[in-house]
Amino acid sequence: MRLLTALLGLTALPSALAAFPNVPFKTSKQWFVDSTGANFTYVGVNWPGAGDVMIPEGLQYASIESIVGKIKSLKMNVVRLTFAIEMIDDIKDNGGDVTIKAAFTKALGTKGDTVYQQVFDAVAAELSKQQIYVHLDNHMSKGAWCCGTNDGNAWFGDKYFNTEKWKRGLQYMAEYSKKWSSMVSIGLRNEYRKPDTAGSSLAYNWQVWYDQNVAAANLVNAANPNIIIFFSGLDFDTKLTPIPGAEDLGGGKKFEKSSFKYADKIALELHNYQTSATDCNSVKSGLWNNGFKALDAAAKNQMPVVLTEFGFSQADTTYNSVYASCLRKIIPEWKAGWTVWVIAGSYYIRSGTQDYEEVWGLLNHNWSGWRSTNAVNALKTMVDASFK
Ligand SMILES: *[C@@H]1O[C@H](CO)[C@@H](O)[C@H](O)[C@H]1NC(C)=O
Ligand SMILES: *[C@@H]1O[C@H](CO)[C@@H](O)[C@H](O)[C@H]1NC(C)=O
Repeated sequence: MRLLTALLGLTALPSALAAFPNVPFKTSKQWFVDSTGANFTYVGVNWPGAGDVMIPEGLQYASIESIVGKIKSLKMNVVRLTFAIEMIDDIKDNGGDVTIKAAFTKALGTKGDTVYQQVFDAVAAELSKQQIYVHLDNHMSKGAWCCGTNDGNAWFGDKYFNTEKWKRGLQYMAEYSKKWSSMVSIGLRNEYRKPDTAGSSLAYNWQVWYDQNVAAANLVNAANPNIIIFFSGLDFDTKLTPIPGAEDLGGGKKFEKSSFKYADKIALELHNYQTSATDCNSVKSGLWNNGFKALDAAAKNQMPVVLTEFGFSQADTTYNSVYASCLRKIIPEWKAGWTVWVIAGSYYIRSGTQDYEEVWGLLNHNWSGWRSTNAVNALKTMVDASFK
């Protein structure tokens, strides 16, 4: 880039600008690769924006700049920023973008009305400024704490999970986020799960999973061909079992990477919350067999797999547990990416409780400092191991 800049006689470009963000990304075998051809490993954190208020959390306590600064201080390179489809429904169906209450306007330090999009824009701009990438994640349809089998957001056709509005929302965000300079990827849906009451839901199976996700991915790719699309699995995104081997999904459907016109723009994601595990080998073989084996050269669908959620209480010594130490070891050993749950100290509102204390959050209640220095120090070793 420097050389190119020199050849063109452009000396005014600051080198930081020239070196970041190096987008778009693509995939090659099990790797993500930036626009210079260098490997990129997702090493980051979840920042929830899909709660009832439907804007990124924490802004009543801390500035966007300070929250991003904390993420940066851990040397993380990506944020999984969650959003709710209801936000787009409000924009599309309810006469335009919606004004955030005065409290949030105040938190952002701006005068006048603030709308959802301005908050997401401000978060994305600060992440870019501090050289952190944005991965968007459709977390919920209706803005609320996720995830339960009876929350109406479990599966296609569930009470709040309108399949067409979901596709429209994804398409909208794929298009909208083009202006964010460090936007690199999007997760189609967080944690599919079987609804307690089927209602008007479609059948809960891999064939429906395939049909709906591939249709949505096609729309997202058409809206923004540059971003990588993440497919998440069944049973709270703990299982992508038939995907690495391109097994029969029913109805003659098979997930075949090579059948995608944008085969170098797709990846997989899994979650793991086996916090009471007693045996690392069983966690390891479980994760591998449930989807991480797509990393392997022997997989029919060799592709990147990212552990986009794992986490545990920061209020005790769980950071020393078999579970936490196991993931700290195996994910970097596999050279896979990860985003931990969660950069937060409290939520605006969760499950009906305002100012809800998030003991799993890396931050203390008022988002001013780490909740547990020991837990964060342990996490830093995972960051370091992931960059080796
Ligand atoms: C990416 O990393 C892997 C493992 O370290 C290595 O084998 C591969 O060559 C790397 N690719 C590039 C383009 O650096
Ligand atoms: C935030 O919380 C910390 C730790 O509990 C406390 O020391 C600090 O005074 C609080 N700051 C504000 C502004 O309330």
